[in-house]
Amino acid sequence: MAPWAQLALVTLLIPQILASPVPEESDSTTHLHVRAAEGYESPPYYPTPPGGWVPDWTEAYSKAHRIVSNMTLAEKVNLTTGTGFFMGPCVGQTGSVSRFGIPNLCLQDGPLGVRSTDHNTAFPPGISVGATFNKDLMYERGVGLGEEARGKGVNVLLGPSVGALGRKPRGGRNWEGFGSDPTLQAIGGAQTIKGIQSTGAMAALKHYIGNEQEQNRMSSIVTKGYSSNIDDRTLHELYLWPFAEGVRAGVGSLMTAYNDVNSSACSQNSKMLNGILKDELGFQGFVMTDWLGHYSGVASALAGLDMSMPGDGAIPLFETSYWGSALSRSVLNGSVPVDRLNDMVTRIVAAWYKLGQDKDYPLPNFSSNTKNEKGLIYPGAVISPIGVVNQFVDVTADHNITARAVAREAITLLKNDMDILPLRRNDSLKVFGTDAGGNPKGLNSCGNAGCNKGVLTMGWGSGTANLPYLVTPQEAIANITDNVEFYIQDKFPKSVTSNADDIALVFINADSGENFITVEGNPGDRTKAGLNAWHNGDDLVKSAAEKFSNVVVIIHTVGPILMEKWIELKSVKAVVVAHLPGQEAGTSLTDVLFGDYSPSGHMPYTIPRSEDDYPESVGLDSQLFGQIQDTFTEGLYIDYRHFLKANITPPLSIRPRSPSLSAEHPLDTAYPRARPTKPPTPTYNTTIPAAEEVAWSSTKLHRIWRYLYPYLLKPQWIKSAKAYPYPDGYSTEPHAVPRAGGGEGGNPALFETVFSVKVQVKNTGKRTGKAVAQLYVELPDSLGLDTPALQLRQFEKTKELAPGQNETLTLEITRKDVSVWDVVVQDWKAPVNGEGIKFWVGNSVADLPVVCVVGGECSAE
Ligand SMILES: *[C@@H]1O[C@H](CO)[C@@H](O)[C@H](O)[C@H]1NC(C)=O
Ligand SMILES: *[C@@H]1O[C@H](CO)[C@@H](O)[C@H](O)[C@H]1NC(C)=O
Ligand SMILES: *[C@@H]1O[C@H](CO)[C@@H](O)[C@H](O)[C@H]1NC(C)=O
Ligand SMILES: *[C@@H]1O[C@H](CO)[C@@H](O)[C@H](O)[C@H]1NC(C)=O
Ligand SMILES: *[C@@H]1O[C@H](CO)[C@@H](O)[C@H](O)[C@H]1NC(C)=O
Ligand SMILES: *[C@@H]1O[C@H](CO)[C@@H](O)[C@H](O)[C@H]1NC(C)=O
Ligand SMILES: *[C@@H]1O[C@H](CO)[C@@H](O)[C@H](O)[C@H]1NC(C)=O
Ligand SMILES: *[C@@H]1O[C@H](CO)[C@@H](O)[C@H](O)[C@H]1NC(C)=O
Ligand SMILES: *[C@@H]1O[C@H](CO)[C@@H](O)[C@H](O)[C@H]1NC(C)=O
Ligand SMILES: *[C@@H]1O[C@H](CO)[C@@H](O)[C@H](O)[C@H]1NC(C)=O
Repeated sequence: MAPWAQLALVTLLIPQILASPVPEESDSTTHLHVRAAEGYESPPYYPTPPGGWVPDWTEAYSKAHRIVSNMTLAEKVNLTTGTGFFMGPCVGQTGSVSRFGIPNLCLQDGPLGVRSTDHNTAFPPGISVGATFNKDLMYERGVGLGEEARGKGVNVLLGPSVGALGRKPRGGRNWEGFGSDPTLQAIGGAQTIKGIQSTGAMAALKHYIGNEQEQNRMSSIVTKGYSSNIDDRTLHELYLWPFAEGVRAGVGSLMTAYNDVNSSACSQNSKMLNGILKDELGFQGFVMTDWLGHYSGVASALAGLDMSMPGDGAIPLFETSYWGSALSRSVLNGSVPVDRLNDMVTRIVAAWYKLGQDKDYPLPNFSSNTKNEKGLIYPGAVISPIGVVNQFVDVTADHNITARAVAREAITLLKNDMDILPLRRNDSLKVFGTDAGGNPKGLNSCGNAGCNKGVLTMGWGSGTANLPYLVTPQEAIANITDNVEFYIQDKFPKSVTSNADDIALVFINADSGENFITVEGNPGDRTKAGLNAWHNGDDLVKSAAEKFSNVVVIIHTVGPILMEKWIELKSVKAVVVAHLPGQEAGTSLTDVLFGDYSPSGHMPYTIPRSEDDYPESVGLDSQLFGQIQDTFTEGLYIDYRHFLKANITPPLSIRPRSPSLSAEHPLDTAYPRARPTKPPTPTYNTTIPAAEEVAWSSTKLHRIWRYLYPYLLKPQWIKSAKAYPYPDGYSTEPHAVPRAGGGEGGNPALFETVFSVKVQVKNTGKRTGKAVAQLYVELPDSLGLDTPALQLRQFEKTKELAPGQNETLTLEITRKDVSVWDVVVQDWKAPVNGEGIKFWVGNSVADLPVVCVVGGECSAE
């Protein structure tokens, strides 16, 4: 989400302002003449299926129905539209309905902590969470995020991010998500959502969908935001998969992406919102735009959008909105059916009840607009009352324990020749690289982490949070040993002396972030740096390897980083990927380096030998004019799925034993049993409300300049004189229900466990540690579709096992896990009786010693 948190940055909006000179009344979406990619279009899907038919939500919907049926038009519109950029303490807030106790709902970034505030925890970002492969930690971090959001009075925390999925290795925001695999993203996202929402704070799953690069995600004067052209099967089996699991986890809200899918913008794509999200996946919460990702009024409402954020129209801060008073007008003139408005509002209010936010939920006690205690209440209004805006509420509790545990368990050991690790406390150490130190300009001195100085704790952009403190690797190492010299510089010091016993620790990193900040020539995506280490990191490693015979390379990175120049060098004994550690960078690292904990992280993406190893289609696109047509021609073959197909081995313990396979539910049909029928949804009076309900004259409000209100000057003059030009395929007749739907996430039959694989993991080493068992599915050719050889579908992590101790892990496989998306039947299809399915279990896709054949046996190497 949201690029801009500080007033000073408003100048950045200028190109945006010129970009889409769309008047309030217009629903035109294509301002530039752009050509869609052949064969890729988004079919119409109308009307929006109303929410309220999933049993889990029945109570929340009936409470919502009670009050929504009594709301005026102004009250309803209030909840659908943000009050405007910088019109309140949070990055976005809705209008309020005080008559029914609903405050301005506060929406605030982001996925790793509460952004733009103080006394918060800066947890490790998603990519590190994915690397832990630890479901309990994923959940616990979610709880921490939720408690902090709640403590600050944030109703909706804008995360987790499961899109970008990580299709493009150079993509700027991949690090906000959990890794380049749909199952890893799905489990990371779902556990985070459950954790956040267990506290009463609401999660916002984002960015829906196909937002795989930063550049050209939004329109400019001469370009339109790119179109991600995704075929139906690839959508279902890769990009939609984690969203389906997030919906199944009960997520309360969802944020759309800026880009198009098949040349239709995500915030008004009826097939994606009405069809796939709300009908097939049975999403019961509400859909919001990304910040300024709202491009039309009536059209977006019809396509299934429920909330405009931060409310502004094409020209932010100009008191215009596609909704707000324009939505009032669209309802009064009959263009937006009253039913659609009622559904928008019911979804928002139901989600609010579902999370229990009607009971003692705190109001915001911080301001993302200033660090000072007092400030403008409505900075966007310029002339604004001043008051106490920051109460500096400390919400950190003991969350630094979880933050440290996540950062520690993410640490992934790629190489450890001669068991150089763990270090002994009396080893003679020489430490190199600025990535071991702090930011010389001070903690949080670069807004939104928009620089790469000192240890890299997170990428940059709106998915960041202030560091409350930072323990650098330098500090943590110095706290453990005196036998160390620090060279916190990126140029190798010529003068350094080396002794035979010395161990050189070389710190390098690679950064990326969101498009509204450019760091060292990289506009979000890694355009300039490529997949190389920043600051000549390769040279630093090579120089150290020339001088020292024992080198340990420590890497902080947002994603794949090339190591080919040095990983095979004889003196490079160990390589440690510490991902992005957040505030506990140093402590988590020394926990592992000095052997207090064994490393138990795994790579959440593949590291190639060379960038040429990727399919060409996953490179970055850029274009000066028109619209990028980014067609996902590699289909299902991203990351390891591609490397396996192309027979490329990525560079590079435990041994699961006594495997066994058991059939749980029968898989005796190719398609799941028929979906349940759809129960009725709340009904309302559909008469167009009285115009006076939104008349300025009906309220005694003291009007704030530039604030977005639902009111109109002379609403009684509004008539539906001419017919609204409804889109092709528009209908108010309910759509036939999709057969793959039937519950949150899809047909409940898809989520029954059909197989479970048990493996015993025994610690045969000398140290206590945890191990991960990853399970990959191999589907038979009999399905008649070209399918990746192996696909991660489940994982489990052991508890701490002492040497000699063992634990049996159970890996459960659902029907969906062994199915492919049948584009003709529009349903998930599995091999009957599981015939020909193989399950592979091991440490990683490159190391799978156990195989179980359905109907046959399990064997272990
Ligand atoms: C996009 O186009 C492809 C190719 O025709 C099609 O398979 C897919 O269903 C379309 N997706 C959407 C969301 O319209
Ligand atoms: C709201 O309207 C319903 C009828 O739709 C009525 O029964 C109920 O008493 C009203 N509730 C409130 C709080 O006004
Ligand atoms: C709409 O929201 C604004 C801002 O919170 C508030 O001032 C106004 O009273 C609300 N209108 C209604 C009808 O509740
Ligand atoms: C109704 O009002 C909306 C918002 O101003 C506008 O976009 C739409 O075109 C209007 N409909 C008609 C039929 O004029
Ligand atoms: C801010 O949060 C604290 C602690 O959660 C709470 O006691 C206080 O009431 C909140 N402030 C406001 C204005 O609600
Ligand atoms: C974690 O936070 C607690 C207090 O909230 C503090 O006492 C402790 O020092 C912190 N831990 C670290 C490693 O800084
Ligand atoms: C470090 O300590 C170990 C015992 O823990 C000892 O065997 C070794 O000789 C010591 N090394 C140095 C360089 O002092
Ligand atoms: C330094 O070491 C002491 C003793 O092991 C420990 O209690 C403290 O938390 C450490 N501080 C840091 C910043 O790592
Ligand atoms: C629906 O609302 C209209 C306008 O408020 C009112 O005149 C009408 O009686 C209502 N219909 C029912 C069935 O309540
Ligand atoms: C696994 O642990 C159990 C006790 O928890 C023990 O009885 C069993 O012998 C162990 N199995 C192996 C193979 O070590």
